[in-house]
Amino acid sequence: MNAAGMKKSKALTAISFLALYFSFYKITLISSTSLQDDFINCLHENTNVDFPLVKTFFTPERNASMFNKVLESRAQNLRYLTTSMPKPWFIFKPVHESHVQASIICSKKLGVHLCVRSGGHDYEGLSYVSRLDSPFVLIDLSKLRKINVDIEDNTAWVQSGATIGELYYRIAQKSKIHGFPAGIISTVGIGGHITGGAYGSMLRKFGLAADNVLDAKIVDANGKLLNRTSMGEDLFWAIRGGGGGSFGIIVAWKIKLVPVPETVTVFNIIKTLEEDTGFKILSKWQRIAVTGNKTVTSNYTGQFLGEKGTLMEIMKKDFPELGLTEVDCFEMSWIDSIVFNAGFPTPSPIEVLLEPKTPFGKNYFKAKSDFAKEPIPVLGLREMFKRLIEVDVASILLIPYGGMMAKIPDFATPFPHRNGTIFKIHYGTSWTSENDKSANKRMKSIRDMYSCMKPYVSSNPRQAYVNYRDLDLGKNKKNSKVNFIKAQKWGANYFKNNFNRLVKIKTKVDPENFFRHEQSIPVRPSRRR
Ligand SMILES: Cc1cc2nc3c(=O)[nH]c(=O)nc-3n(C[C@H](O)[C@H](O)[C@H](O)COP(=O)(O)OP(=O)(O)OC[C@H]3O[C@@H](n4cnc5c(N)ncnc54)[C@H](O)[C@@H]3O)c2cc1C
Ligand SMILES: *[C@@H]1O[C@H](CO)[C@@H](O)[C@H](O)[C@H]1NC(C)=O
Ligand SMILES: *[C@@H]1O[C@H](CO)[C@@H](O)[C@H](O)[C@H]1NC(C)=O
Ligand SMILES: *[C@@H]1O[C@H](CO)[C@@H](O)[C@H](O)[C@H]1NC(C)=O
Ligand SMILES: *[C@@H]1O[C@H](CO)[C@@H](O)[C@H](O)[C@H]1NC(C)=O
Repeated sequence: MNAAGMKKSKALTAISFLALYFSFYKITLISSTSLQDDFINCLHENTNVDFPLVKTFFTPERNASMFNKVLESRAQNLRYLTTSMPKPWFIFKPVHESHVQASIICSKKLGVHLCVRSGGHDYEGLSYVSRLDSPFVLIDLSKLRKINVDIEDNTAWVQSGATIGELYYRIAQKSKIHGFPAGIISTVGIGGHITGGAYGSMLRKFGLAADNVLDAKIVDANGKLLNRTSMGEDLFWAIRGGGGGSFGIIVAWKIKLVPVPETVTVFNIIKTLEEDTGFKILSKWQRIAVTGNKTVTSNYTGQFLGEKGTLMEIMKKDFPELGLTEVDCFEMSWIDSIVFNAGFPTPSPIEVLLEPKTPFGKNYFKAKSDFAKEPIPVLGLREMFKRLIEVDVASILLIPYGGMMAKIPDFATPFPHRNGTIFKIHYGTSWTSENDKSANKRMKSIRDMYSCMKPYVSSNPRQAYVNYRDLDLGKNKKNSKVNFIKAQKWGANYFKNNFNRLVKIKTKVDPENFFRHEQSIPVRPSRRR
């Protein structure tokens, strides 16, 4: 770019910065190389850490294959990597907390939008694709992954770029009787996961990961690094369930470890539709999957924090229909149960938890969620199974609630799906090739299945889990410039009445709406505008 062009781009940048207050102008005229240089220079000016920043910059111009590799590394849904999807102008991987602060200061100054990614498991790719703002840059936190476990104190500080597999592994290295109640698949990122709630196989005993957070470090829209004391209880409340990408960039969580016994028991029993006449067993559901045989198999997976003798007694008394026998039960340490639940073959060394990939690999997927307040009647189950058989590859997961989940009030955190919920439903479909002709059909089938389940699940609002991000929600609410009307719809789905408090906090901490994506918490429109 020549000098005149440069001047032009500077001028444009200035305009776009002002425009931020009003309507988020799109800037498309700046050449990316000059923008990168400006960005790097700005970062240097705003950090005092001596690090050759150019080493953690990835641009398509300098090295396209490396850029793609980094972009793809932590992008879990291949649907958002296709050629038609917008790509970041460059990727920056901060190696120090102050780099995160500088990224915010500099993207504001240069008028570029910023996407933040921890584990990259967002269902709608919101952490690495922006379809609202162009250009956008990707801040990838994968180099901020320190984990400090303090067994004496029963706590750990975990940086956002760490995966939950790494966290479990680091805990297990120090103790056999400590654990943490977060998700099941080992590659999920701590950063995005906890801020949306985060559940796993211990949710009935200990609640969500977000319920077990003691402190956090977050960089706000002004580039300030805050902890619980300095951010205040409102913001600390909002980030424990209000969803990622709305309030700031969380750089680390301080979590409370929970006690686990030295021996836990896991089982997993498969029943076919034919083996469960009248859906007797399914009334205590867990997981359902369709195989190529066009029948439905139910996969009942369980984990018990205790020995198998005790589990057998409980099951014989409370759930004899399942026909669980000692042969189905495996006793193991908590960390081995993590490996088992994450789908790794048994036995696997616990080091598999450090691997950057899951045993299932990556695919193109679409999923939706529901919460049930009462058992689905047999009529509803029939319909659900009919749909399952129609869709080629689909799965329904049923995640039982109750226990600790019912004891925490709806408003204690932004996550409102508590007492009165008997289970959560996850509908999913996936495919493995970009050119798969049935992809559209699959997307439609999942949406149809969701429509047909309406009579059997929560209503007014129909509840959904923000960590199962679903851009279909609110889609039919058209117009409204600032999307505030649409947001009322999905806001109620994800957060019920807590949405209003989230909007209030957002309006206070990020009035310019710097942190934004298709479903970020909106700023309350001001009457003057
Ligand atoms: C294979 C798979 C298995 C899953 N299993 C579970 C499970 O067992 N339990 C469960 O509860 N959920 C599960 N999820 C859902 C998961 O919790 C969410 O997708 C979660 O948001 C992922 O966090 P992430 O850091 O990996 O994702 P990212 O895609 O990096 O981030 C998700 C969102 O948070 C924002 N964000 C990322 N990092 C930060 C940060 N540091 N500060 C602020 N905002 C940030 C992003 O911009 C994006 O909007 C699963 C998802 C997948 C794909
Ligand atoms: C939080 O930050 C404040 C101000 O920076 C500091 O004084 C305080 O010690 C910090 N609190 C904790 C618990 O680290
Ligand atoms: C169909 O079922 C049979 C027996 O239950 C099983 O062996 C086979 O692997 C199944 N086929 C597919 C494609 O799942
Ligand atoms: C059932 O679930 C277990 C644990 O998640 C998994 O290893 C197994 O492959 C599943 N079986 C089927 C048929 O889906
Ligand atoms: C949960 O809800 C039920 C019925 O709606 C009520 O009886 C019970 O007291 C509630 N429990 C808690 C802990 O709020």
